Amino acid sequence: MADDKHSGALSAAYAAKRPEDVAAIYDNWSETYDSDMSAAGYRHPTICLALLARHLPRGAEPLLDAGAGTGLIGEWLIITGYPNVEALDISQGMLDKAAAKGVYKALHRLAMGGPLPFADNAYAGIISAGVFTSGHVGVEGLDELIRICRPGGVIVLTVKNTLWLAGFAERVAALEAEGTLARIEETPPYASMPGESDTVPSRGLVLRVS
Ligand SMILES: C[S@@+](CC[C@H](N)C(=O)[O-])C[C@H]1O[C@@H](n2cnc3c(N)ncnc32)[C@H](O)[C@@H]1O
Repeated sequence: MADDKHSGALSAAYAAKRPEDVAAIYDNWSETYDSDMSAAGYRHPTICLALLARHLPRGAEPLLDAGAGTGLIGEWLIITGYPNVEALDISQGMLDKAAAKGVYKALHRLAMGGPLPFADNAYAGIISAGVFTSGHVGVEGLDELIRICRPGGVIVLTVKNTLWLAGFAERVAALEAEGTLARIEETPPYASMPGESDTVPSRGLVLRVS
């Protein structure tokens, strides 16, 4: 059953300790990821897309979909007027699915959480849905996204409450206080998959880089 498979894969990903384990879990899941997430009522891509469209002018480029997975968001970004988008993900299997959709200008198999091989100020906007969560990427992944986002650009991301309470909120507040960015929007906490038993909520954030 799709929901059982989905629950198992995501639970394993949440519990993963090493990036290569996360990549392997998603490699194995990539074939049914889209249908499983659809069945679970997965909300992060829709909410991130709405936030991005509210804060970044149509046609802003280039954008980076960080933790793009199979490219759910890339498909919709093109339709809504952002045709120049690159995908980054740690899982080659997920990137292969994204590539097959033909919606990204470039695909990068890279791990967030450490240095990224992109120039300072490279992107007009960055979107990262369902990536800052248990077993995936923690607050240590945020600084590189800020570095590669140009001043005036926005970073739209979701943050699971577990991470939020374990230092993410404090880090965002500190970055605001030092003038590195402004938090221009924060959603109320919401369930990313209403059909799932893991009910730890997440929030959507929009950060404008100074
Ligand atoms: C829940 S999926 C979300 C995918 C896509 N953003 C979406 O909303 O459908 C999480 C994605 O993050 C990727 N991921 C996990 N850890 C990562 C890391 N350290 N660096 C880059 N990608 C990572 C996984 O391979 C997976 O594709």
